[in-house]
Amino acid sequence: MNTVHIPASTPYDVQIGPGLLALLGAVIGETCPKATRCLLVTDDAAGPLWAPKALESLEKTGLAAAVYTLPHGEASKTADSLVKLLNSAASEHFTRSDVFLALGGGMVGDLTGFAAACYMRGVAYIQLPTTLLAAIDSSVGGKTAVDLPAGKNLMGAFWQPRAVLCDTDTLSTLPAADFLSGCAEVIKTAILFDPELFAQLEREGADFDRPALIARCVAHKRDIVAEDERDTGRRALLNLGHTLGHTVEAQSDFALTHGQAVAIGTAVVCRAAAKYGFCAPEVPARVDALLEKFGLPTHTDYPLDGLMERMLSDKKRAGGTVSVIVPEAIGRCAIRPMDRAALHDFMKAGL
Ligand SMILES: NC(=O)c1ccc[n+]([C@@H]2O[C@H](COP(=O)([O-])OP(=O)(O)OC[C@H]3O[C@@H](n4cnc5c(N)ncnc54)[C@H](O)[C@@H]3O)[C@@H](O)[C@H]2O)c1
Repeated sequence: MNTVHIPASTPYDVQIGPGLLALLGAVIGETCPKATRCLLVTDDAAGPLWAPKALESLEKTGLAAAVYTLPHGEASKTADSLVKLLNSAASEHFTRSDVFLALGGGMVGDLTGFAAACYMRGVAYIQLPTTLLAAIDSSVGGKTAVDLPAGKNLMGAFWQPRAVLCDTDTLSTLPAADFLSGCAEVIKTAILFDPELFAQLEREGADFDRPALIARCVAHKRDIVAEDERDTGRRALLNLGHTLGHTVEAQSDFALTHGQAVAIGTAVVCRAAAKYGFCAPEVPARVDALLEKFGLPTHTDYPLDGLMERMLSDKKRAGGTVSVIVPEAIGRCAIRPMDRAALHDFMKAGL
């Protein structure tokens, strides 16, 4: 088992390895000692496969549990779903000392974390990521949210989990498309911080040691969260590929997965950065080739004019500018604020 300690304002451990759902009851005992009941939130794809394992562990440690199942997919990450979940917790008389459990991918994790932040002004929750994306990214760092019609993650809170238990067995049932979607965030991490990881992915493709790779990516996220938990500075780097990514994801009505959208956004900013002379031409060539090796898209046909409004309503906008994450080399990126005209021209160069 790999353990990465996250030194956030409320610190916690991320445990990564096979068979870890069997430890869930014990982890709740250690991290939420007053809890007597758990609200296990999941979706209708991950839940039937993995909730029984989690419930077995809770039963063995004498913890009562209620299960709340959402339809799978980003369409469930809404304010309406949030209120329904909170009403369910209230009608089942969950108390402030009980614990919410998020068993699923980033959709379940973001929604459950936000519900935990809101319920009775804040209850404990534990992330049980079952997708690669959730394992390396969304389950760590305490960003919780739901989407609003105007954009993704526009309603949310910073609320750190008490623990993250990443049972890598759960990835065995993940559809290939969702696994590859998570690989887009792995590639993003490598472009941001880790040229050796990038080279390893070029050599090995998706045939990597999953627990080791997840731990390596989580360690990069730990460093950023430790430095800038509330996302007022360097944490913005994690948005590489997201300004355009969130926009094409929403424009496709979520037919594109989050990872596919981030892949397009990352490829576009790399090509634009090379055209502007911010990085060598080798950078977009290697990034496009690696994304394609993982079966991820690198282009979009959506016209730029239609994408501009959504990009400008993105929450990463501050005043009249949007912070775009621009690669300077594999393993090094910079944050560049751009106004509307600069953003338009930059994206046009990369599309
Ligand atoms: N909070 C953060 O810091 C952060 C960071 C990155 C992304 N996100 C958010 O994460 C979300 C995307 O996460 P995701 O890619 O995990 O999507 P997701 O949660 O929608 O999961 C993808 C699909 O896989 C299914 N699934 C999950 N685990 C499974 C398993 N083990 N076996 C079979 N099927 C399984 C789900 O039901 C779903 O259909 C987006 O909402 C994004 O905004 C949040």
